[in-house]
Amino acid sequence: MRILSVVGARPQFVKLAPIATAIAGRAEHVIAHTGQHYDELMSDVFFRDLGIPAPDFNLGVGSGKHGAQTAAMLTGLEEIIEKSAPDCVLVYGDTNSTLAAALAAVKLHVPVAHLEAGLRSFNRRMPEEHNRVLTDHSADLLLAPTAEAMSHLAHEGLAKRSVLVGDVMTDVLFKVRDSLVGAAAIPPDGLNAGDYYVSTIHRPDNTDSADRLTALVAELASLDKPVLLLAHPRLLSMAQQHGIDLHKGNIRPSAPLAYLQLINLARHSAGIITDSGGLQKEAFLLRVPCTTVRPETEWVETVNLGWNVLVSEDLSRLAATVRRPTPEPTAATPYGDGHAAERTVTTLLEHFAP
Ligand code: UD1
Repeated sequence: MRILSVVGARPQFVKLAPIATAIAGRAEHVIAHTGQHYDELMSDVFFRDLGIPAPDFNLGVGSGKHGAQTAAMLTGLEEIIEKSAPDCVLVYGDTNSTLAAALAAVKLHVPVAHLEAGLRSFNRRMPEEHNRVLTDHSADLLLAPTAEAMSHLAHEGLAKRSVLVGDVMTDVLFKVRDSLVGAAAIPPDGLNAGDYYVSTIHRPDNTDSADRLTALVAELASLDKPVLLLAHPRLLSMAQQHGIDLHKGNIRPSAPLAYLQLINLARHSAGIITDSGGLQKEAFLLRVPCTTVRPETEWVETVNLGWNVLVSEDLSRLAATVRRPTPEPTAATPYGDGHAAERTVTTLLEHFAP
């Protein structure tokens, strides 16, 4: 059986890592990279550090408006699917690369499996929400990370095509966390373990309006500890466009980090402040308190179990929320047992092996 994985953006490389390992020796794996993310720091370092085989194809699509970017991917992926003739196309998460790959494949009558299916924010301003809904409804097999995601799929009439496999990012996190046990904390110069926050901000709703970004930067700058702000390219370009200096107060801006570095830094931090989906969940798995700068989250378990608090409209709540007492310990495992990738591959073989 031949599986074609299509990835393009940073979080998808993390998800691809355990899948590539789980496929090895069980099926043929072809990897296509759309080139949505293309930097050394946004792409190459993930393939290297996580031991992911080099992509067989790279479309080099790069950045652009959503329509142009998605269209370029569709054109390129159609050719790749025809050329590689896979038994199924595996798409990951909720980016423009996910939707383009799902559309290209279904039009060619090639079965599509969607990994991380069923997540919903119910916020229709997010491009990712449209990507998720459209991908789920076109895919043939929906691989869900959580019971909550399964219930959304059932609610939309998709139960028959859905399988609960668990969360593959948890597979990666558990492995990395175990490899870091006993490893020294290496906080950047002048910082002490437990005495800094880690922050990432990249969503258009937080970066694209000058007023919003100014207010958010002011709140981060006045927090009680240094804030390592790992700046996504979108944040940098928007800050520059709006004339906002990120070197302000307690903020320490830095380039995006490789995965292992990020996890090592995060696990020794006093808290995480983010609008990233993946990092909210990683914070929970590391049992580091998280504050999410969004009105809602797809990873509701992190909030329900007390480890994540949402702050959006009223940013003046940020400082008090970040400094809240440490949440109650929990042994809950809503994201699975760290073997989601193996379950995913078994399910793909059951459904699509010729
Ligand atoms: C995309 C995904 C988002 C995901 C995020 C993770 C969509 C709609 N959004 O958002 O769901 O959470 O990736 O990072 O697919 N850039 C670089 N170098 C790169 C990549 C991007 O400089 O390697 C710059 C681009 O020029 C662009 C900006 O970053 O201005 C945004 O890139 P884009 O891929 O369009 O969207 P993201 O905001 O990264």
